Amino acid sequence: MAKESAPPPDLHGINLIRNPSRRFPGGRKLALILSAVVFVLVSSAYYPGQVFYGSTEPTHNSHQTANAGHEDNELDCNLFNGTWVRDLERPTYTNVTCPSMPDSKNCAKYGKQMDYVNWRWKPQGCDMARFQPQLFLNIVRGKTLAFAGDSIGRNQMESLLCLLSQVEAPTKVHSDTKDKFVTWHFRYYNFTLMALWTKFLVEDSQREINGTLVESHDMHLDKLDARLAANLHEINILVVSSSRWFFRINYLYEDGKLIGCIYCSEDNITSFSAISAIQRVFRTAISNLNSRRESRLQLTVVRTATPAHFENGQWNTGGTCNRTEPVGEGTAITSTIEWEIRNVQVEEANRAQKEKKQKGRMNIEILDITKLMSMRPDAHPGIHWNNEWMRGYSDCSHWCLPGPIDIWNELLLAVLNKYRKNMEDQ
Ligand SMILES: *[C@@H]1O[C@H](CO)[C@@H](O)[C@H](O)[C@H]1NC(C)=O
Ligand SMILES: *[C@@H]1O[C@H](CO)[C@@H](O)[C@H](O)[C@H]1NC(C)=O
Ligand SMILES: *[C@@H]1O[C@H](CO)[C@@H](O)[C@H](O)[C@H]1NC(C)=O
Ligand SMILES: *[C@@H]1O[C@H](CO)[C@@H](O)[C@H](O)[C@H]1NC(C)=O
Ligand SMILES: *[C@@H]1O[C@H](CO)[C@@H](O)[C@H](O)[C@H]1NC(C)=O
Ligand SMILES: *[C@@H]1O[C@H](CO)[C@@H](O)[C@H](O)[C@H]1NC(C)=O
Repeated sequence: MAKESAPPPDLHGINLIRNPSRRFPGGRKLALILSAVVFVLVSSAYYPGQVFYGSTEPTHNSHQTANAGHEDNELDCNLFNGTWVRDLERPTYTNVTCPSMPDSKNCAKYGKQMDYVNWRWKPQGCDMARFQPQLFLNIVRGKTLAFAGDSIGRNQMESLLCLLSQVEAPTKVHSDTKDKFVTWHFRYYNFTLMALWTKFLVEDSQREINGTLVESHDMHLDKLDARLAANLHEINILVVSSSRWFFRINYLYEDGKLIGCIYCSEDNITSFSAISAIQRVFRTAISNLNSRRESRLQLTVVRTATPAHFENGQWNTGGTCNRTEPVGEGTAITSTIEWEIRNVQVEEANRAQKEKKQKGRMNIEILDITKLMSMRPDAHPGIHWNNEWMRGYSDCSHWCLPGPIDIWNELLLAVLNKYRKNMEDQ
């Protein structure tokens, strides 16, 4: 890989987004409002309102299909819309109780002030229970859950490993260099957890010019990524995500024919926006996943775009992320392009849900984390991490552990809990 010219795979992409970073002052006002809210919440102690999951008995949701379950709660509970409120309770794990925590996310070890862990996600109209590792492991007993995506998909897996390690220490049963493909096993629960490096979800090959790999890919929109396809006979639950790698010069094929390209200069090739390519990929990948005979997939979860928060520059031009508090909804540090990606991902997941009503056996759910993470520019490693290759840069893309990325898995548990009954039956 050409180190000098190419952005590193873990921090790439953002600099190619044609959207200058914007600066907005003032998360302070929000903090004041939030502290007022805290009083109310602290005095009401432990989630007295509607709790989305966590009872020992199956909730009424678990008897219903995904779609019906949602409609039921839509008016009073919106898991993906809400606010961050102060919560001084400790996170459920630390860098000591989670031995698998990688140095690249171990922000405490590298001197980041830990204020950012003292916030809890408060969805509109209901409360989240604390993550219950036993409940999670009971639901996934005997199953395989895979995260297919880029390094941020792996970041979510690392968070889940830490959360679940509090109950049982997992064993790493497979990994390649750089943990691009990694498999962990929880023996007591016979639960297998995987990360699959599938940066486009569909098949791709990197282009070469004069024998040197360049940051440009040929993508086959109608073919599933080969490593993902090869594991489908084992995977029961799949969390898909992908977005950043689209923002480079990529050539798109369907049925073996070139149909267009992103950011290319050839004027005899149809030009595609990265957004429309992402939309097309999610549409074809989901339908592909659903139609494969060997597949054991019961549930596919579409995790929406995750915002990066470089300010005062991009990753390679001195951009930083040194905020110390969440920001309010209107305080959009998140670029509009990330909202556009999120919108097409939600659109495609909704489309697939509707189609599922007519045919198909695989369930589709959405983990719509874009909004809640857009408010957390304070929770990236920044300069507080260790990685030989990237020394000297700020990481404003990935998320510290523990931290708000843990909420993705709390939300995933809420989603899985709806399917608890179905899962046990199979
Ligand atoms: C989220 O809540 C805000 C404030 O109540 C509201 O304006 C907005 O429309 C909601 N968004 C979604 C996606 O529900
Ligand atoms: C854990 O974080 C603390 C700071 O809170 C740091 O001093 C310590 O070295 C870290 N330990 C490990 C094992 O990462
Ligand atoms: C563990 O789960 C796998 C399916 O993922 C199953 O094939 C195997 O029989 C299970 N092993 C035990 C000991 O239950
Ligand atoms: C590839 O190598 C040839 C011969 O050395 C050279 O003429 C050409 O400019 C190179 N192409 C690129 C894109 O670097
Ligand atoms: C576009 O034009 C170039 C020459 O300028 C040619 O090599 C290439 O094959 C053309 N591509 C298509 C898809 O027509
Ligand atoms: C954040 O970093 C920028 C650039 O290094 C600096 O100008 C600014 O003062 C810092 N802000 C805080 C709150 O530390």
